[in-house]
Formats: sequence, C-alpha cells, structure tokens
Amino acid sequence: ARFSRALQTEAAAKSPFAFCFDIDGVLLHGHQAIPCAKKALRMVEGENSRGLKIPYILLTNGGGKTESERASELTSVLGVEITEHNLIQAHTILKTAAPRYGDEPVLVLGGEVDKCRKIAEGYGYKHAYLPIDYLAADPRIWPFYKLTEEERAAVKPNPPHPKLVLVFHDPRNWALEIQLLCDLLVHPNEPPPKLVFCNPDILWRSDFPAPRFGQGAFKAALSAVYHTRTSKSLDHVQLGKPTGTTYKFAEGLLMQRAGIQAGKEMPRVYMVGDNPESDIAGANAYGWDSILVGTGVYDSNEGPPTYFPSRMLNNVEQAVEWVIDREF
Ligand code: G3P
Ligand code: MG
Repeated sequence: ARFSRALQTEAAAKSPFAFCFDIDGVLLHGHQAIPCAKKALRMVEGENSRGLKIPYILLTNGGGKTESERASELTSVLGVEITEHNLIQAHTILKTAAPRYGDEPVLVLGGEVDKCRKIAEGYGYKHAYLPIDYLAADPRIWPFYKLTEEERAAVKPNPPHPKLVLVFHDPRNWALEIQLLCDLLVHPNEPPPKLVFCNPDILWRSDFPAPRFGQGAFKAALSAVYHTRTSKSLDHVQLGKPTGTTYKFAEGLLMQRAGIQAGKEMPRVYMVGDNPESDIAGANAYGWDSILVGTGVYDSNEGPPTYFPSRMLNNVEQAVEWVIDREF
C-alpha cells in the first residue's frame, strides 16, 4: 500500500495541473450522483489519454458529518476513493482553531441532533454545547418548541455562557437558535461570544428543482432580528467559500495531494463549481481558473453570472474534458 501510495504521489506530482471540485450541484444532487460525475472523476483518476492521475480535492460548503463519515459516503456514491485527505467540508478548517479554543466552552450550531457536537469534540473542542442543552436547562428560553426524545437523550447538562459560537452546518431550528444567540449576544452580565460562520451560501442546490436556502440565509435572518433588537450589525467571522481563508486552507491540502512541498510552486488549479458567489468568486479571487457548470445554483436563464468564470460548461464531465484537452 505504501508503495502504491508513493507511485500515486509520484504520478500526481508529474501533473502540471490539479482540480478542486465543489460537491452539491456539481457532483451530487442531494444524495445522488449527477450522472456524468462518476465518469468525470474516473478521467481524473487516470482514465484519460495519458493514463495520468490528476491530483484533486473536493471542497464543499456543506458538512454536518465527520470528514471520514462523509468521505466513505461519497466513495460509495461517486465510485472513486474519497478520504479525509482529499475532502474539505465547511467546518474542517475549525480543526485549526481547536488548539487555541479547545478548553473554552463553545456553542455549536447546525446539523442533526448532536452530530456537530461529536464533530467538534473530535476536532479537540472539549466543552461543546448545543442549543438543545440550553433549552433543556431552561424550557422558558423558547416556549414554542419541545425537545424530541432523541434530543433529550443527547442533552449535556449545565451549559455555560460560551466564549465562542461556531455555526458548523445549516441550523435546523432557526427560531430557537436565533432567540438563544440574541440572548447570549446581548447578555446583561457576560461578554458577547465570538461568532463564527462556516458557510455564507444563501442558496445551494440539492435534489429539489430550485436552489434551497443555506447557512447564509440563516445568518441573514439572525442579522435582521439582532438588528431590530440592538440597532447594531452582527459582529462575526465568516469562513467557507468564497473566503480567501478557506481557499488558502484548500490549497494546502491540494499541495499535499500533488506531492508539492510547502513554499514550492503550486500547479495550475481548476475550480469546478455551480455557485458563482462561492465557487467562482473564491477561485477567481485566489488566482485559480474557474469553471461554472449548469447543474446547480446558476441558471443561465437568469442572465449572466455575478462572477465570471474562466469557462462556462454544461456539467463536470465537460469541465474535465475541456481542461484535459487544454492541458495535454
Ligand atoms: O450546505 C451545503 C451547501 O451550502 C453548499 O454545498 O458543495 O455546493 O459547496 P457545496
Ligand atoms: Mg455547489
């Protein structure tokens, strides 16, 4: 296995270019592979005229599962080996802040029941709390919601005032979470927690014919309610595509995959995305080539994209074909 990994790294290192693939709207619709995505990834894995393995990573504003859990799901759906070494989710970058905040109480938002607590603990956040912990401690916080049995079983007692709020994934109970966050941000005796969002997407493409609201829509709702309460704008940190912080983090992983030492020249990177505001904007700003495909958020009937890609193509297979023709 070590020998074949060395060969793969060797082969990948020969490639003068690399890919960064978005997931939702490029490779998947919901849990299903977009039909041509499997072929596109096989071409990148070596099924091409040169038999060359082209280094790539998947970079998503999605999340809500551990990287290894999501990677094994993606492997079975896409038919190529995805591991936590070629997958970056919206919250993966939060691993880097755990050494600094790992001993502080943090409030984690988003995802199903206590999945994101477990992810945060796996990153090294020893004191991770959820909105359901606060509601279980005092049901008066939001009298219009009763915890499910599953939530009650997952509750952690005595949630403290958090130092940090990490919005890992798309919140499921906006009403409770907006109420709780406003309580914590305007607390009479405690300093406001630092607020970190991992995904600015207002819209994303699942398996519904039209785009769905993402974590960015939650942030817009919270900001509006917070402003009515305080007349202030919401002080926060934004991570995720299109931020340069996330693209720099992605470049680091891509260099590892391409077998390139830190500080050395990165090959040309082609970002393949469906959302002009996250995939194309971020890639363009970071100096990567960008390819906008028509299988996701962007709808050409609505006019030109807000951010212009290097190329617009129908789908990810055409994107890989175009790059390979251009590069080989
Ligand atoms: O929650 C997922 C969504 O916001 C976007 O996912 O893969 O298109 O970046 P992706
Ligand atoms: Mg997408």
